[in-house]
Formats: sequence, C-alpha cells, structure tokens
Amino acid sequence: MTPISDDLLDQVRGWLRQARKIAVLSGAGISAESGVPTFRDAQTGLWASFRPEELATEEAFRANPTRVWDWYAERRERLRDVAPNVGHVALAEFQQRHPGRLTVITQNVDGLHQKAGSTGVLALHGNIYQDQWLDPCQLARRAHESCHVEQAEAGRPPSCAHCGNLLRPAVVWFGEMLPMAALRAAEHAATECEVMLVVGTSGQVYPAAGLAHEARQGGAKVVIVNPQATELDDVAHAVLVGSSCQLLPRLLDF
Ligand code: APR
Repeated sequence: MTPISDDLLDQVRGWLRQARKIAVLSGAGISAESGVPTFRDAQTGLWASFRPEELATEEAFRANPTRVWDWYAERRERLRDVAPNVGHVALAEFQQRHPGRLTVITQNVDGLHQKAGSTGVLALHGNIYQDQWLDPCQLARRAHESCHVEQAEAGRPPSCAHCGNLLRPAVVWFGEMLPMAALRAAEHAATECEVMLVVGTSGQVYPAAGLAHEARQGGAKVVIVNPQATELDDVAHAVLVGSSCQLLPRLLDF
C-alpha cells in the first residue's frame, strides 16, 4: 500500500474545511474494523462463502424461508455486541460539532452509524434489526387495519396467525427498490454537497454507487477512502488509500 502524501491529505482537509455541505457514502468497509465482514473482500467477504442469489433475493426467501431467515438471524446475533469504531465515531462527532453540515448515506444495515450517535442517517439498504411482512397484508385490505409485525407468531420465520403471511428482514434485496424517501434525500445530499467522502464501498452496487457520479456532476469534490481499488476511483478527485479508522479521524478533526 503506497503511503498517502501529506500534501494530498492536506488538500482534502482543505476541501472539507471549506465545504458548507459534506456527504458521506459508506459501505461495508467502514464496519470492517469493528469485526463485521464485508461482502466482496476476496477471503473474508460474505459473498466469498455464500451465494447472494440463494440468500439475498425475494425468490430465495420464497424458495427456502427458513434458510434465509436463519442466515439473517445469525448475522443479527453476531452484530448485537459489535461496537462502532473510531471511523463511525469521527463522523458522529463531526455532526455534533457542525450541525446540519454532514449527511451520512449508508448501504450498511448494521446500524453502527446510528449506534455511534450519527443522526439523520439515510439507510439505503434498510435495517437488519427490523422485520416487515413479505406480502401486503390481506387483513389490511379487508379491515383497514394492518397486522402488527410485533404480533407475529414465533417461527423461523414468524408468521401471521390470521393469514399466514411471513415476516422477512427489512433489508433491500437484489432486484428490489430502495426506500424512496431515503433515496430521494440521498440524491439531494449528493447534488448539494461540496465534498463527498466515499468510504468503504466497492462501488459495484447501484443506485447507491450512482450517488458518487451525481455528486461529481453537481460540482462536488469526490474523495475515496479505501485500502483497495474501487469501481468509483475514476469518478474521484482524490483516492486516499487506507482504512476508514486510520483516515476519518484525521480528515474530520476540526
Ligand atoms: N476501511 C475502508 N474500506 C475498507 C476497509 C476498511 N478498514 N476494509 C475493507 N474495505 C473496503 C474494501 O476494499 C471494499 O472496497 O470496503 C469495500 C467493501 O465492499 P463490498 O464488500 O462490496 O461492500 P459494499 O460496497 O458495501 O456492498 C454494497 O452490496 O451485497 C450488497 O447490499 C449489500 O450493501 C451491500 C452492497
């Protein structure tokens, strides 16, 4: 890994100091130093041991709900005691020192930005701790009241006692739409920011990765923070090769 020159770091810090609006697009890599596996890292990424199409699609869940439910239940369990790292904390503390200046947009479902104290986090891929019904609730249509997720009958997965509807994790699977309000807000943050930090994402998954392009088109400086090359390096004005725990506290120390 080539060391980052002090000049490059100072240049990026200068951009950040001048920026009235900063957006951060984070991915699995920002949680790697908390012990959470990424998806695409060659040896340790989740997709090195599991096939996404067997676990992270609606078809997979319908074909084998118990298998998919159990896989997510295990991930939830492993995440329960995981603490945010100094990268998450640097972002949260910056937000506290500079209210309204920095927006966190994340692809992560692990809730670690929120645990670190970040506010207004735009979670584009949902939240692994929450559940939602697989299908629109039958009872909701008939009786104008929805079944409550909390009242689901225990099971793997839990189900509705009345109509058999299944609970699924409230994460965005491949082929699914992103939550519209979060995506709109993220697009707004990307187009209005003056600097976008793209931290710990391989930049392979759209529409999230498209936000870096939108930021650039909107006139922002785009800065990558990642120990490896990414698909978004060509979009960036600066590529900082290093880990988020090493770099974020240095970039956001004012
Ligand atoms: N600091 C910064 N970046 C890191 C670190 C670290 N300590 N460790 C690893 N990385 C980088 C890797 O080099 C890689 O570029 O994090 C990135 C992780 O990439 P992916 O595993 O592809 O994760 P992500 O980009 O978040 O994936 C996007 O794909 O499967 C879906 O829904 C899932 O939200 C996820 C989406």
